[in-house]
Amino acid sequence: MILEILNPMHYNITSMVPEVMPAATLPILLLTSLLLLVWNYEDTSSIPGPGYCMGIGPLISHCRFLWMGIGAACNYYNKMYGEFMRVWVCGEETLIISKSSSMFHIMKHSHYVSRFGSKLGLQCIGMHENGIIFNNNTDLWKVTRPFFMKALSGPGLVQMMAICVESLKKHLDRLEEVTDPSGFVDVLTLMRCIMLDTSNMLFLRIPLDEKAIVVKIQGYFDAWQALLFKPDIFFKISWLYKKYEKSVKELKDALGILIDEKRRRISTAEKLDECMDFATELILAEKRGDLTKENVNQCILEMLIAAPDTMSISVFFMLLLIAQHPQVEEALMKEIQTVIGERDIKIEDVQKLKVVENFINESIRYQPVVDLVMRKALEDDVIDGYPVKKGTNIILNLGRMHRLEFFPKPNEFTLENFAKNVPYRYFQPFGFGPRACAGKYIAMVMLKASLVTVLRRFHPQTSSGEGIDNIKKKNDLAFHPDESSNFLRMTFAPRNLDKCLEH
Ligand code: HEM
Repeated sequence: MILEILNPMHYNITSMVPEVMPAATLPILLLTSLLLLVWNYEDTSSIPGPGYCMGIGPLISHCRFLWMGIGAACNYYNKMYGEFMRVWVCGEETLIISKSSSMFHIMKHSHYVSRFGSKLGLQCIGMHENGIIFNNNTDLWKVTRPFFMKALSGPGLVQMMAICVESLKKHLDRLEEVTDPSGFVDVLTLMRCIMLDTSNMLFLRIPLDEKAIVVKIQGYFDAWQALLFKPDIFFKISWLYKKYEKSVKELKDALGILIDEKRRRISTAEKLDECMDFATELILAEKRGDLTKENVNQCILEMLIAAPDTMSISVFFMLLLIAQHPQVEEALMKEIQTVIGERDIKIEDVQKLKVVENFINESIRYQPVVDLVMRKALEDDVIDGYPVKKGTNIILNLGRMHRLEFFPKPNEFTLENFAKNVPYRYFQPFGFGPRACAGKYIAMVMLKASLVTVLRRFHPQTSSGEGIDNIKKKNDLAFHPDESSNFLRMTFAPRNLDKCLEH
């Protein structure tokens, strides 16, 4: 560790001084002692973490985040300094926490409802004081969040099941469009198109070119991930961030055209009651002067990217896990046959699919797509005995917590981990409390619809030796597969349900 080498307490200074000291040595020693004092001056915090060392500590920790990716850097630091530790991000004190008791405290309390990130980075992607996901202006966030909560619960949640199944069937009927000549299905593109189509059918309802928008969503996500922690100096050099700015503009422009069409349709509609949806509610709020046009467009953008960003990768990981675990597949198929049989899944089935639910939970525990949660302390506090100052950034390392506490076989993928009821403080893949995932319930509906509909028709397979543990992944803002790798290949063998259950 560089910081340990640099730390003066590491050495016995007297043993390093030669017996006959030249005249210049004394002032050098005095100067060095003074520097060492300053060096250690900031290291008074009781929270474990690397030393400040005249700003070298913050520099190194920030570089580590940029170089390793956020999730991987958090795992590194928690492993190195413990489950409640302190680093610096963008020069600001940042806690990395993977203890369930501290997480529970933070998620529960309303003075942790803000997030953090580079202001210039967030401005560049349009999230600064706009939308919901990284809107750190809590007054504005409080205005937009109810629009999301309304659309993602109640009747929206019920409608989602039928819409999602319809979209899945439509896309699975055209599987050849995402299958290469060797029979390998591009599962990520398939699922992204389904998730975008489903979100559009429920929240915006304007025809769109799925494949083109999916590519733009990828570009937008890459920009978000790349810019979130970039230092201000990065934004002074335009050629460095130009390509990200371009990706953001491409998605915003494409969605802007669709949203303007929506505005036009609303203004010419005879009865608004019949066409009420998420986008309409926002546009009406804009007309009343409650929201700006920029904010409305950003909210719609975030609603349309939320599922393609998270659900498609989750389903992809789940299909890989099924391909690797034939007994788990058998248990899933047995339950699907018993509860659903030959028809399509309905909303009433959701509660009855216990094995499917345990499988989904174990999959997102073992291989999450969202490994961490970012928050900011809006008041001074004490967490698990540690003083936490107002303004401190906090990263909750969910993925690590899910492998450290409670589960009987934390480093294995097995349904035994969910055989007993899991107290919710030990399993928080969507977070909880006032800033929890707004889509946590609808996500479960979409995941069940996707798994049941795909599995009833196909048996997912990978080439021998390919599995979830040996595909290349990057653990940054999200935990994503490396899409340039050949290890993403999967085939979908048509299934004869009766035959499969005879085994
Ligand atoms: C496997 C699927 C998903 C996972 C694992 C997931 C996980 C998360 C997590 C961990 C957060 C941060 C929560 C916190 O700070 O406590 C979050 C935020 C959010 N999620 Fe999800 N999510 C998923 C799917 C979805 C879907 C399908 C939607 C909507 C269509 C959605 C909408 C949101 C929104 C709007 C936020 C920001 C909430 C806010 O800041 O107030 N998520 N999600």
